[in-house]
Amino acid sequence: MSVCAVLLVLVVLPSAESSFRFASYYGDHMVLQKAPSKAVIWGYGEVGATVTVSLYKDLDTVSKKSVFINEPEAVWRVVLDPIDHGGPYQLVATQHYEGEITYIMLTDILFGDVWLCGGQSNMEMTVSQIFNASKELKKAVHYPNVRLFTAALETSPTELEDLAKVDLQWSLPTPENLGNGNFTYFSAVCWLFGRHLHRRLKYPIGLVESVWGGTPVEAWSSKRALSKCGLKPPECTMDEFYYAGPCTFSVLWNAMIHPLLNMTIKGAIWYQGEQNTATDTDLYNCTFPAMIEDWRQSFHEGSSGQTDQHFPFGFVQLSTNQKSKELDNFPIIRWHQTADYGFAPNPKMVNTFMAVAMDLGDERSPYGCIHPRDKQTVAYRLYLGARAIAYGDKISFRGPFPEKMDVDYSASYINITYDQEILVTPSNQSLFEVLCKNTMNDHGEDSVYWAPAALMSTLPRVVTVSFKQCAQISGIRYAWTDWPCEYKDCPIYSSNGRLPAPLFIKYIQQD
Ligand SMILES: *[C@@H]1O[C@H](CO)[C@@H](O)[C@H](O)[C@H]1NC(C)=O
Ligand SMILES: *[C@@H]1O[C@H](CO)[C@@H](O)[C@H](O)[C@H]1NC(C)=O
Ligand SMILES: *[C@@H]1O[C@H](CO)[C@@H](O)[C@H](O)[C@H]1NC(C)=O
Ligand SMILES: *[C@@H]1O[C@H](CO)[C@@H](O)[C@H](O)[C@H]1NC(C)=O
Ligand SMILES: *[C@@H]1O[C@H](CO)[C@@H](O)[C@H](O)[C@H]1NC(C)=O
Ligand SMILES: *[C@@H]1O[C@H](CO)[C@@H](O)[C@H](O)[C@H]1NC(C)=O
Repeated sequence: MSVCAVLLVLVVLPSAESSFRFASYYGDHMVLQKAPSKAVIWGYGEVGATVTVSLYKDLDTVSKKSVFINEPEAVWRVVLDPIDHGGPYQLVATQHYEGEITYIMLTDILFGDVWLCGGQSNMEMTVSQIFNASKELKKAVHYPNVRLFTAALETSPTELEDLAKVDLQWSLPTPENLGNGNFTYFSAVCWLFGRHLHRRLKYPIGLVESVWGGTPVEAWSSKRALSKCGLKPPECTMDEFYYAGPCTFSVLWNAMIHPLLNMTIKGAIWYQGEQNTATDTDLYNCTFPAMIEDWRQSFHEGSSGQTDQHFPFGFVQLSTNQKSKELDNFPIIRWHQTADYGFAPNPKMVNTFMAVAMDLGDERSPYGCIHPRDKQTVAYRLYLGARAIAYGDKISFRGPFPEKMDVDYSASYINITYDQEILVTPSNQSLFEVLCKNTMNDHGEDSVYWAPAALMSTLPRVVTVSFKQCAQISGIRYAWTDWPCEYKDCPIYSSNGRLPAPLFIKYIQQD
C-alpha cells in the first residue's frame, strides 16, 4: 500500500554523505500553499543530477516535475501543479545521478493556506503565557490540521539561502508544542489567529513563526528596503530596552526571512514596534511600509511569482507599556504603524489590516506591562481583518475613524463625524485634546499646548468637543498617551462594542 514499498524496489536511500535533501523547512506534516497558487519545493543535490518530484495521494501521482541540477548552487527547485486544499499527500523527490537513483520522502503533507508570523516579543509570547493558558493548551488536540513551524533565532551578516537552524520542525499542535516555555514557541497570537482561520475556512492552515524579542524593524528589513528611507548599514545605536535582541540592520532579514522567500505563502501577520519607540522612531512611518513592500516583492520573486505580489499583511498596533507615563513614543509608533493615516488599509499600505490593542493593557503581567496577556482579543481582531482583506468577506473589521471635522470657532466646539456608528462610554476623561493657542505672558507671547477637550454631546456618528479654554486651536488628537484607558474601556468603540476607535492626530488651519 505504501509509496515506500513500491519505490524501494527501484532506488536507495541517500547515504550519510549525500547532499541530496530538502531545504530545512520542508518536513513531514507540513502545509503547502493550496490552489490557485502553486507550491514551490526545493532542496540540495549533486550538480549534474536530474531530480523528479512527485506528489502522491494514496497511490495516485497527482503532480510530477523534473529538473536538472545546475552549478554553482547545487540546488533543485520545482513548482508543483496547483492543488486544492486537503490531504494527506506524500511527496517523493528522486535523484538520478551517475547511474544511481536515490529518493527522499515527506509524508502527511496537507494543502491549505500558509501564514508567516513575524515581529518581536509580543508575537513570541507562547500559549502558556497568556490568559486562560491551560484551557487554550488543552484545546490544541482539536485542531490537528493547523500545523506549526518555528525558525530558530539566528543572525547573519549576509543573506542566507536556507535556515541555519529550526526550533520546531513542522508539527501537529500539542500542549507541549504550543507552550514550550516563555518566549520560545509557539506564538500565541500566531496560533490563535490560525485557529480562527481554520474554524472559518475548514481546511488546513500552516503557521510559520519567525520571531525575535526586542528587535527593531531595521533588523528585519533588507538593505533595499532600508535605503528607501535613507538608512545605511551598519548602524546600531540603541538604548537599553526591555528584552533587547539583535538590532544590527538586516541581520534577521538575512537569517530568518530571506531563506523563507522560496516558499509560497498566503500572507503574513506582524506584531512589532515596541523596540522602535527607542530607535529611529521618527522614521517608522517610512521603514515599516517599506519593509512590507519589500517582503511582498521578495516573496513574489523568490516563489517564481506564486506568492501574491500584494499579499495580505496584518499587524497589531502597539498595546501599552507604562501607565504613569503620559508621553513616551508609544502613540507616535502607533501612528507611524499606519504611515500616519491612523487606519489600515490606506493608500500607502494597500492590502494591510490592523488590530488595535491600546485598550488591552495588563498591569499585572508577570512578563512586564509591555507584554499583555490577552492575546485572544488581539488574534480575533487580526482574524476579522484577514477575513475582510485576505478572504473578501464583507464584514466590519475597523474601529471608528473620523471622516470629517467641523469647527465652530465662534462657539468654540468641534464636531467630529466618524465613518460608522459609534458607542461612546461615559467617562470622565474624554481622551480628546486640542492644540490650544493662548496669549499668555506679559510680553504678549503666545503659548501653545495640548489641553483636554471636554465631550459636550454625542450622536450616533458624531461627537462634539469643546475648546472654550483656548483663544485659538491648531490641532486635535485622541488617545495620544501610552495607556489611554482601562482594559476594554476606551471611550469610543464600534456600535457592537468590539472594535476600539484608534488614536488620531490632526492639525487644523483656521481660514
Ligand atoms: C515563565 O514565566 C513565569 C512568570 O514569570 C514563571 O512562573 C514560569 O516558571 C516561567 N516558565 C518557564 C518554563 O521558565
Ligand atoms: C514621518 O514622521 C515624521 C515625524 O515623526 C515626519 O517628519 C515625516 O515627514 C514623516 N514621513 C512620512 C514619509 O510620512
Ligand atoms: C530563493 O529566492 C531568492 C530570492 O528571490 C533567490 O535569489 C534564490 O535563488 C531562490 N532560491 C531557490 C533555491 O530557488
Ligand atoms: C478566559 O476565560 C473566561 C472564562 O471562560 C472568559 O470569560 C475570558 O474572556 C477569557 N479570557 C480571555 C482573554 O479570553
Ligand atoms: C455640529 O453638530 C450639531 C448637531 O448635529 C449641529 O447642530 C451643528 O450645526 C454642527 N456644527 C457644525 C459646525 O457643523
Ligand atoms: C467621574 O467623576 C465623578 C465625580 O468626580 C465620580 O463620582 C465618578 O466615579 C467618576 N467616574 C469615572 C468613570 O471615573
